[in-house]
Amino acid sequence: MGKVPIGTNTTICPMPVTLIGSVVKGRPNFMTVAFISRVCLDPPLVSVGINKRSATREAVLRNQAFSVNFPSVAMMKEADYCGMVSGNNTDKSMLFEVFYGKRPDAPMIQRCPLCIECTVVETHDFRSHTCFIGEITAAHIDESCLAGGRPDPKKINPLLLTMPDNRYWALGENVGSAWSAGKELLKGK
Ligand SMILES: Cc1cc2nc3c(=O)[nH]c(=O)nc-3n(C[C@H](O)[C@H](O)[C@H](O)COP(=O)(O)O)c2cc1C
Repeated sequence: MGKVPIGTNTTICPMPVTLIGSVVKGRPNFMTVAFISRVCLDPPLVSVGINKRSATREAVLRNQAFSVNFPSVAMMKEADYCGMVSGNNTDKSMLFEVFYGKRPDAPMIQRCPLCIECTVVETHDFRSHTCFIGEITAAHIDESCLAGGRPDPKKINPLLLTMPDNRYWALGENVGSAWSAGKELLKGK
């Protein structure tokens, strides 16, 4: 079957659903964000795309810090809600029990199995969104989500999103190991 053109707004899927923590009007605020990616190992950098109408963008510009919280599938309702209302006119601070790492301006969510704290190192302004590059300054994981001392994706059970169908998903089956599955093709090279 041949390929057909589709709109440029089609996103690579699936994306992790995260809750970006910041301080808005002196209160912890959480914004749902799926435009997020690790972009460098050393230093440990992540990028997030934050729309210009959000309260989070202003807060991150002001404080130069944010947190990235990974809700589990069980937190789907709360994660969806945080993406439908804005800290500009809604107080989202009572939704979650929060804790802090090194930065007072990057609240993290106790109920999320994985939480990371970032300091902004670069800001790139685009038409609809601002891309913040954050350096990870601390990371916290539920002890129960470790297997052999390493984060276990199945235990974390992250909430995933596909677009443009706008549906949530859970992680599927493990189908192989990276830097290993292709070894057979290396033979004789
Ligand atoms: C599943 C989901 C994913 C979202 N992903 C993003 C995203 O990656 N970037 C973005 O700017 N907005 C995204 N949004 C929209 C924001 O979460 C929304 O604008 C939110 O109200 C902003 O909150 P704030 O004003 O409190 O910062 C998403 C919403 C949902 C429901």
